[in-house]
Amino acid sequence: MSTWANLGLQDSASPLMEQLIFFHDHALLILVMITVLVGYLMFMLFFNSYINRFLLHGQLIEMIWTILPAIILLFIALPSLRLLYLLDEINEPSVTLKSIGHQWYWSYEYSDFNNVEFDSYMIPTNELENDGFRLLDVDNRIVLPMNSQIRILVTAADVIHSWTIPALGVKVDGTPGRLNQTNFFMNRPGLFSGQCSEICGANHSFMPIVIESVPVNHFIKWISNNVNS
Ligand code: CUA
Repeated sequence: MSTWANLGLQDSASPLMEQLIFFHDHALLILVMITVLVGYLMFMLFFNSYINRFLLHGQLIEMIWTILPAIILLFIALPSLRLLYLLDEINEPSVTLKSIGHQWYWSYEYSDFNNVEFDSYMIPTNELENDGFRLLDVDNRIVLPMNSQIRILVTAADVIHSWTIPALGVKVDGTPGRLNQTNFFMNRPGLFSGQCSEICGANHSFMPIVIESVPVNHFIKWISNNVNS
C-alpha cells in the first residue's frame, strides 16, 4: 500500500510485478543516459565558436545518429515485448475470481466454490475503525491463497471500470458486455489494496479493492465457512 511521500512503485508482491519494476528501472536508465548526453551537447553548443562556411552535409554522422537511436530503441522494445507476452500467459490457475464493476462498488464471485458471492463497498471515513485505511478499506475483502496461480475475470455492469492492484502488477478494464481475463501469483501474505482506474463517474475514487493474501489452509477454512452460510 502506498503511504505518505511514496512516489515510486510499491514493493512487488508477485513475480510479474518484480519483472515490471526491473523493466521500469532499465528503461529509466536508458532515458537518463540519453537526457544527460543530449543535455551536455545542447549546453556545449552555447560555447561553440567554430564556423564552417562550406559545410553542407555529413554522411557519416547522419548514418550514426540515425542507426544508433534505432538500436537503443531495440533494447527497450525487446524486453518490453517479453514482459507483454509474459503478463498474458495463463498458467493453470487453481482459483478463479470474478470481479464485476458497478457504480460505485465491486462485486465478487468465487464460482469454483458453489458460487460464493458478495459486494465490496468502501468504508466511509466516519465509519472507519482505528486500524482502518481511509479511502482504501472495504467492508468485504477478497480472500485469496498465496503461492497459487489465480485467474481473475473482470467485467462491469454499467460503465467501464478498471480492476487495478499496483503491488501485483494487475490492471484490467471491466467493460460492460465483455469479459477480460488475467492472472497473478502472490508470493507473500498481506493486505494488497488497489483502486478503480477508469474514470467511471462521481464516486470513481471511492471503489477500492482489498485482497487478503493468506496461506492456502486459511483460505480453505474461509471459503468453506462462506459456502455453508
Ligand atoms: Cu469504477 Cu472508476
